[in-house]
Amino acid sequence: MKTIASIVGARPQFIKAFVTSRALEGKFNEVVIHTGQHYDPEMSDEVIDQLGMKLPDVNLGIGSRSHGNQTGTMLIELEKTISEVKPDCILVYGDTNSTLAGALVAAKAGIPLAHVEAGLRSFNRAMPEEVNRVLTDHVSDMLFCPTDAAIENLKKEGITKGVHRVGDVMYDALLHNQWMVSQSTSILPDLQVEKGKYALATVHRAGNTDNATRLKSILDALGSLSMPVIFPVHPRTRFFINQAGLSVNSNVSLIKPIGPIGIVELLEHANCLLTDSGGMQKEAYLLGVRCITLREETEWVETVEAGWNKLAGVDAGLIRKLFETWHPTGERPALYGDGHAAEQICAILQNALA
Ligand code: UD1
Repeated sequence: MKTIASIVGARPQFIKAFVTSRALEGKFNEVVIHTGQHYDPEMSDEVIDQLGMKLPDVNLGIGSRSHGNQTGTMLIELEKTISEVKPDCILVYGDTNSTLAGALVAAKAGIPLAHVEAGLRSFNRAMPEEVNRVLTDHVSDMLFCPTDAAIENLKKEGITKGVHRVGDVMYDALLHNQWMVSQSTSILPDLQVEKGKYALATVHRAGNTDNATRLKSILDALGSLSMPVIFPVHPRTRFFINQAGLSVNSNVSLIKPIGPIGIVELLEHANCLLTDSGGMQKEAYLLGVRCITLREETEWVETVEAGWNKLAGVDAGLIRKLFETWHPTGERPALYGDGHAAEQICAILQNALA
C-alpha cells in the first residue's frame, strides 16, 4: 500500500483533512502530520475530537512565531519527519503557513505534491495566504480545484498540467457536520438566541485584526446592528481587541471559539453571517444564509456573482445598511460539487500513484 503524508496545522485544515482521510482509508497508508500551528485546545485538539478525525500521527509542536520563523521551523522539522516516513505523496490543504512549508518540503525532497483547494486567488499579495497559495500551486504536481474560477486562475499562470476540478471538500465536510448537528443537542438556548433572529460574526484575518482602526470599525458596525450578534472570537482577534482596549455594544456577545459542529448549527440558523473567513462565505452560500464579507475582495467570487455575498470591507455604514436592507432571494446553483470531492481526490491519487 502506498503512503500519503497529510500535512495539517490550522483549524480549517483539520476539517478538510478529516473528509479526505475518510476517503483514503483502506486505500492508502495515511500518516497525518500536525505542524502545531494551532495549539489552543479549542483550535486544535477539540476540533479533531469533535470531528472524530484520526489523531495526528506526529505533532511537531511549532506554535505561534513570526511568519518567517514559523514557516522556516516547519520546513526544518517537516523535512526530518518526511525523511523517516518516506511517503509516496504529500498532501497539503488550503493556504496557511503549514501548507507552504509542506509544499516546500515536498518540492525539495522530490516527492509528488498534491494541493487540495488549489487555484484560489484574492489577487491581494498583502495577504500571507495569497503568497502561500501561489507558491504552493506552482510546485504542486496534482492540483485539486474546487471551482471553475480556480481552474481559470491557474491557466492564467500557465498551470494546466495535473489540474483537476473535483468540487470542494468543505462541502463534503458541511454535509457531515450538518448530520452531526441533527444528532446533537442545540447550543442556541445556551446562547440565548432564536432561529433566524441573530447574526453570526467571525473575524481573524491579519489585515483586520492587526489594524486597530479596521478592527474598531468592524466592532462598531456589529454593535450598530438591530439584532443580537454571536461572535466566536479567534485567539488572535481576542489578543488585538485586548491590546487596543476596544469594547463592544451589549448586543454583541464575544464568546470563545466554537467547534466545527456547533458553528454549523449557529450558521444554518443565523439571519446573516458577517465574516472575513474564506470557508464560511461558502458555507453560508450552501446553507442559504446571506453573507456580508468584511474584506475588499474574496477568493469565492461565485458567491458574490450569485448574489448571496456582498463585499463590504470594514465600512461601518455600509455593513449596517446591507444588514438592514439587503435580502437575497436568487437561485443558488451547485457551485461546489456534489459533496463527494474527497472520493474524487482519492480516485485521482490512486490512478496517479499506481
Ligand atoms: C491561520 C492562517 C489563516 C487561517 C487561520 C484559520 C496563516 C498565515 N494564516 O491564521 O489563513 O484562515 O489560521 O484559523 O497560516 N493563536 C493562539 N492560539 C492558537 C493559534 C493562534 O493564541 O492555537 C494566536 C497567537 O497570538 C498567534 C495568532 O493567533 O500569534 C496568529 O496565529 P497564526 O497561526 O499565525 O495565524 P492565524 O491568524 O490563526
